[in-house]
Amino acid sequence: MLGKKHTFSDIPHKNPFMSLKRILKAHGKRYFYENSRIGKEVIKNPGSWKALDLVYGNDPGEIETGTFIPRFWADRMFCNSRAAKATRLRLEEYKRRMKILGQEYAELNGGRVSILSLASGPGRDIIEVTRFLRGLGIDVYAMCIDKCPEAVALGSRIADHRELSGMVNFTRKRLRRGDYYRDSSKYDIVITQGILDYLSYERAISLLENAWHISNDGATIVTSNMKRHKWMRFWMEFFGEWRLKYRNREEISTIMKESGYRDVNVYLLREGYHWMGMGKKYPTGG
Ligand SMILES: C[S@@+](CC[C@H](N)C(=O)[O-])C[C@H]1O[C@@H](n2cnc3c(N)ncnc32)[C@H](O)[C@@H]1O
Repeated sequence: MLGKKHTFSDIPHKNPFMSLKRILKAHGKRYFYENSRIGKEVIKNPGSWKALDLVYGNDPGEIETGTFIPRFWADRMFCNSRAAKATRLRLEEYKRRMKILGQEYAELNGGRVSILSLASGPGRDIIEVTRFLRGLGIDVYAMCIDKCPEAVALGSRIADHRELSGMVNFTRKRLRRGDYYRDSSKYDIVITQGILDYLSYERAISLLENAWHISNDGATIVTSNMKRHKWMRFWMEFFGEWRLKYRNREEISTIMKESGYRDVNVYLLREGYHWMGMGKKYPTGG
């Protein structure tokens, strides 16, 4: 579903016919691959949850000095950048929304709420929200879907460790256009974080349609997409081959409505990088 993987062998070495742009790009890529934990994850697999985990944890690694530019210097710069802060802000917004919605649905449903995360990565956000809601005495059932076996295994281990197994569940599945994830539950809250940005218009609709089909009537979707950002886009694409689908408010709103959602509200987060989208599932025909 995401862009193609880049291997280190993509990075050209010595070629006298390379243009200046290609030389800069090749050297930049090599530098980031060798000296940046975040850069390495992105170059290996744009769209990986591993790079995001480092950004969420604000974890650039121990800076290693002794060379002209210290190792992990770029990670330190990136983790302190506005773009990284904006990514952490997005995560906080998802958790805040889920905590509020979780309490609202629990009140309507006799103390129970169900949450689904599509393309969840290791689902740290869902685990934290589940712990919070459990602390309020709410009975939570959460399901995290991701194609990556490592993400699913890590998430299961963390849930286990937090004594949440049975409450936070993981399923490995590659979501494909038109091939919906289904199980025996229907969900009150569905989130898609850090995935719409990678999908074409048609695939984005397919993902949100999947969310709609597996939701209860009255359910809420919380989603997001990056806003166009000239400089950010340049850096990400030039050195990382990190290509996203940047969208505006209307495009996100259209995708959500085309997927079946109503009462759609798209708003920009404080740092100005991420749109959040919320919508409701009404009974068919509603
Ligand atoms: C950028 S990460 C976001 C992870 C998490 N939602 C977050 O925001 O921290 C994108 C995730 O989508 C998953 N993914 C990408 N394509 C997928 C697909 N077709 N089906 C299921 N998961 C997919 C990747 O494995 C990865 O964990």
